[in-house]
Amino acid sequence: MCGIVGYVGDRKAFPILVNGLKRLEYRGYDSSGVALSQNGEITLFKKQGMVKEMEDHALEHDTSGSSGIAHTRWATHGEPSDENSHPHLSNSGNLVLVHNGIIENYQSLKKLLLDKGYTFQSETDTEILVNLIQYVQEQESCELRKAVRLALTQVVGAYAICIYDKSYPEDIVVAKLGSPLVIGLGVNEKFIGSDATPFLEYTKEVIYLEDGEMASVSATEDLDIRLIDTNKEVDGKIHQLEMDLESIEKGGYDYFMMKEIYEQPRAIYDTFRGRLLADKGMIKMSGLEEYSDRFRTADRIIITACGTSWHSALVAEYLFEEFARVPVEVEYGSEFRYRNPIIRKNDIIIAISQSGETADTLAAIKMAKKAGALVFGICNVPGSTISREAHAGAYTHAGPEIGVASTKAFTSQITVLTMMALELGKIRGEFSTSEYRALLRELSVIPKKIETVLESIDLIEDIATQYKDATNALYLGRGVNFPIALEGALKLKEISYIHAEGYPAAEMKHGPIALIDENMPVFVVAPNNGHYEKLVSNVQEVKARSGKVIAVVTKGDTEIRNAADHVIEIPETLEALTPLLTVVPLQLLSYFIAVMRGCDVDRPRNLAKSVTVE
Ligand code: G6P
Repeated sequence: MCGIVGYVGDRKAFPILVNGLKRLEYRGYDSSGVALSQNGEITLFKKQGMVKEMEDHALEHDTSGSSGIAHTRWATHGEPSDENSHPHLSNSGNLVLVHNGIIENYQSLKKLLLDKGYTFQSETDTEILVNLIQYVQEQESCELRKAVRLALTQVVGAYAICIYDKSYPEDIVVAKLGSPLVIGLGVNEKFIGSDATPFLEYTKEVIYLEDGEMASVSATEDLDIRLIDTNKEVDGKIHQLEMDLESIEKGGYDYFMMKEIYEQPRAIYDTFRGRLLADKGMIKMSGLEEYSDRFRTADRIIITACGTSWHSALVAEYLFEEFARVPVEVEYGSEFRYRNPIIRKNDIIIAISQSGETADTLAAIKMAKKAGALVFGICNVPGSTISREAHAGAYTHAGPEIGVASTKAFTSQITVLTMMALELGKIRGEFSTSEYRALLRELSVIPKKIETVLESIDLIEDIATQYKDATNALYLGRGVNFPIALEGALKLKEISYIHAEGYPAAEMKHGPIALIDENMPVFVVAPNNGHYEKLVSNVQEVKARSGKVIAVVTKGDTEIRNAADHVIEIPETLEALTPLLTVVPLQLLSYFIAVMRGCDVDRPRNLAKSVTVE
């Protein structure tokens, strides 16, 4: 987490840095800061709170410098405060650093520096790093780049850093291990970012720094990229960005989350594009084709992910087992990586990650690669670390997702996974052609059906009004909609701070039923499919205890409608495809409840969109 931005060139750096930080706020937003080089000095502006607060404060002063570095923070070491905000200065006042990541051995490094007489203003690991670099530079009497390199060889942890010396502000040194860092190449100017969004309007040419690399970034010189451990020069590959500015703006919506909920039909069409050829009865996924033999003969698929992406993995478990008859295990990245799991060469590991940067998911796939398994990445952010680390993969193509609570990335992930499950079913000989074609046809009309669900917005807003003051909520679902119950509960707790739990409906009687009373809203995901009659019974059980039932049902439903307090209808579809529809009303309900409670929907407290620390 944390976002970093840097600029060297002829323009005024401050607006570029601040606008860049605003675009990176999804990575953390508890405090921010900018270091500008002006008149041979480093001018620092740092403030707890959103970037806007730091910006307003800075604009009361001179901000005319034409190079600088900036940071938006998600606290790891030390609470959010002005002092703990980055950038951090070294004791000499000559070096200034921003950092995304965690220095794990910061305590031993701090002790070493304290023994040498260094002092610290903040509680951060970053301030230790900048002083370690100063210390090494003084010991070695060397230029900054060498000092950074030598200091980093003593560091255990993860980092993306930008640092410069006040005497050479036009030369920013950057380095990366485990946290992302992108360099934008302009004409006589360069940009640095945790992703490319800070400089989209200035250049489309970027170089993604790889783990273990560092570079000197100056306005006019070619990038000098080197390996941190050996100082060996490496060539950076230039990538062309395809993202545009419009896709990262709000487009008239109050919040990115609402915009992104509404973008789902379009996002799914984009996920289909060139892959789902329903008329021809074909799916074409190049990443899958390349390894089709491995997929055909795989003994097992392990899917690893975190957060909402983990919920799409759970949906995939149902789909892969149903369509492809291949055993699937779903693993949290954080548990998998530390469990000494059994990974066989004939296993396939699928990593799902919107950002492609989640530290635990990344560590899990590195481990799987070492064990010889094939790693397939499903990411939304092009060029992200997981997408580059995987042997093969499929992008979701949902476009930039800015709201911290994931919506369109989730449905796009399920879309990719559904196509994969269908294709695997075909290559493993599990379908008749007619079955396969019917599934493809129905999948192709899902975006239209989501549009129909979105038409219930007024009803959903009205239901939200009635439950906005709840303190607890229960979400129930069965089969492929059990993960949707989990996702509904996660959406509510993430953005409205109401305690919510998702449960397989049948498990309700093993615990949660004790919580049900007239104050407990119970959201039941109950489309008309194989589990319907059982869900009718579950709804009756809730009503018998005076709980309030809000059910997501298939159009034309009567039985649950008669028992429930509210129903929201989705169009009829095949059972396997219902998650793509049932999740939408739950996203909207959470959105409205959070807005009514006065919460900042796009930036929920304590959360960050991209979790690059474990
Ligand atoms: C954070 C975000 C979630 C996201 C999860 C996994 O917790 O707030 O929305 O689902 O990380 O992120 P990923 O980028 O790997 O999908």
